[in-house]
Amino acid sequence: MSNKYSLATTLVHAGRSKRVSQGSVNPVVQRASSLVFDSIADKRQATVNRAKQALFYGRRGTLTHFALQDLMCEMEGGAGCYLYPCGAAAVTNAILAFVQSGDNILMTGAAYEPTQDFCNKILSKMNVSTTYYDPMDGEKIAELVQPNTKVLFLESPSSLTFEVPDVPNIVKAVRKINPEIVIMIDNTWAGGILFKALEHDIDISIQAGTKYLVGHSDVMIGTAVSNARCWDQLRENSYLMGQMVDADTAYTTARGIRSLAVRFKQHTESSIKVAQWLAEQPEVKAVFHPALPSCPGHEFFKRDFTGSAGLFSFELKEQLSREKLERFMDNFKLFSMAYSWGGFESLILYNQPADIAAIRPNIKRKLTGTLIRIHIGFEDVNELIEDLKAGFERLK
Ligand SMILES: Cc1ncc(COP(=O)(O)O)c(C=O)c1O
Repeated sequence: MSNKYSLATTLVHAGRSKRVSQGSVNPVVQRASSLVFDSIADKRQATVNRAKQALFYGRRGTLTHFALQDLMCEMEGGAGCYLYPCGAAAVTNAILAFVQSGDNILMTGAAYEPTQDFCNKILSKMNVSTTYYDPMDGEKIAELVQPNTKVLFLESPSSLTFEVPDVPNIVKAVRKINPEIVIMIDNTWAGGILFKALEHDIDISIQAGTKYLVGHSDVMIGTAVSNARCWDQLRENSYLMGQMVDADTAYTTARGIRSLAVRFKQHTESSIKVAQWLAEQPEVKAVFHPALPSCPGHEFFKRDFTGSAGLFSFELKEQLSREKLERFMDNFKLFSMAYSWGGFESLILYNQPADIAAIRPNIKRKLTGTLIRIHIGFEDVNELIEDLKAGFERLK
């Protein structure tokens, strides 16, 4: 597809070439481990082009995978997209592709907890050191770059507390010291579209596609869209690590993406309405929704993002006792308690200040009240507010 089209049009039309759709609207589901060659010449051609969407062997992908990869590349503006069985696999394999023993990586101290665990428990075993930085102290990043630093890893907004770092300036500062450093971002919250990572000189945009790409809480997948500079190395390393997804997963993900822009419009509208309502409640100390001025980094959100997801958090004035927590959390009618977000449904979870401090030893900002994380789905927003109102009533 030509890149003269807007994002909304691209999301509908990309990844639907005649080759992958074979006359239907959606790509075919080509389930295959073995792909059959007609002749030796045919096999030779497939081997030469195996990294360029030739039908070669199941692990290199089938027409269904190519459709999703094309769609992702057009959506995020990349040269290639690798598919992984979940978001965590995308994060870890993207990092692993660019480090070796003796290297160092710079990791945001407010990253998704398993990302930090991977650094502490797996990279450390491989003699790769991790230097954590406070994403809201971006001006200091230059002091942390070492001669052996190979990767800068960003996540925006931060998991759980939703600070929005000044990503363009962090990227600029690191590139100035060493332009070779591979810069990657966990871009899950933005669905790869609310923040166009590759347009900000980031090499690789990673997503837990499990969340917004799929959008229906029923499939797990990870994606990493890369620029041309890093694509060959990312692809070949991930391939050697045996990373791939089945054709049905690729199909379902592509189908989810068709409605991504429309879903984000509703997430933006409803989540801001709930966030603004929460900000007025006497029990609430602060709301951490990037679109609200009370969220650290709101000015960077306004500058760099084109919309909002449904996931944010708020801090209560009080640290709830176990008994109060149970009364609050156990009785919602519309909000379910579950970890994975990005679907059509609303969710709620909590963290106590000590939990947050334990997984963020390198972050200055500390909380004192219970943190409630919510995901605003597509229910009627006034009914969601009523459900939350009843929760606050239960605290009285
Ligand atoms: C920001 C972020 N990155 C990565 C992941 C991991 O994704 P998955 O559960 O698909 O492995 C998650 C999952 O919650 C996440 O929230």
